[in-house]
Amino acid sequence: MNTAASIDSAAASAVQPQVIRVYVWDLPVRLTHWLLTGSIVVLAITGFYIGHPFITAPDPAGQEFVMGTVLAIHFFAAIVFSLSELARIVWMFVGNKYARWNQMIPVSKARWRSAWEWLKFYVLFRPVTPRFVGHNPLAGMTYMLVYAVCLLSALTGYAIFSVSAGIGSPMQVFSVLVPLFGGLQTARWIHHLCMWLLVLFVIHHVSCALLVARAAKNAAIDSMFSGYRFVRPEDLEAEEAEE
Ligand code: HEM
Ligand code: HEM
Repeated sequence: MNTAASIDSAAASAVQPQVIRVYVWDLPVRLTHWLLTGSIVVLAITGFYIGHPFITAPDPAGQEFVMGTVLAIHFFAAIVFSLSELARIVWMFVGNKYARWNQMIPVSKARWRSAWEWLKFYVLFRPVTPRFVGHNPLAGMTYMLVYAVCLLSALTGYAIFSVSAGIGSPMQVFSVLVPLFGGLQTARWIHHLCMWLLVLFVIHHVSCALLVARAAKNAAIDSMFSGYRFVRPEDLEAEEAEE
């Protein structure tokens, strides 16, 4: 009985590579990720309505002020969105090593080499994924672009808002941004474009997350909830040797 069990476990470990659980995404990374996700969904839906009002209220308009309600929701979600983005940017300088800015902007030769290997993997010149523990360098670079688009979205949003802010409102300070964006209409256009860039990113991002979770069997999606990811011990050793 014992012999059979040990043969079974030996056979299983021969098939399944040994993996260990590593805490990669600390709480602020996970919290800001889901707050950004939720606020972007609300902002995209309400923003789409602001640009193309598809529900018109029956008279009298004063009782069913749909656009006013949608604008208020857009603005409350914008506050959550801005605070989450700000918190994540601060966390890039104080968080654990997987949360740091250098995981998104590659500065070491090793990360550039790894980025090249990942590129080969994505264009099917490499059959297996290169070794990784946190974000792979190409994913990291994409996230930096996403944070940049989020920032642009927020700045153009505040610039548009400053124009209709009441006299004496502190929000008027953002009116200095309007000429920098080439005027109100261009700011509106850039704000709208950012929404489509984010929508495209989310489609790509969720399909990639599902694919990697299935191919690498490393609990990729669960990791954004629990913080833990499964990695091969040699991947962790390789990463520590690079540091
Ligand atoms: C509006 C929607 C979303 C946006 C803008 C977004 C953005 C991001 C960003 C910026 C990161 C990098 C995290 C960091 O270090 O700061 C990330 C990572 C991640 N996200 Fe999302 N995300 C969204 C939705 C989702 C959803 C719905 C899922 C699950 C299906 C998901 C799964 C993940 C996973 C697994 C990672 C870690 C990937 C890796 O190893 O590089 N995300 N996401
Ligand atoms: C801090 C963040 C943001 C602020 C302060 C903000 C603010 C605003 C303001 C003031 C407007 C114009 C309302 C009007 O015309 O009266 C607007 C419109 C809009 N917002 Fe935002 N927003 C923010 C983030 C976002 C995000 C992240 C998205 C998309 C994911 C988004 C999508 C839109 C869209 C599509 C419009 C309509 C643009 C048009 O007129 O065609 N917003 N936003």
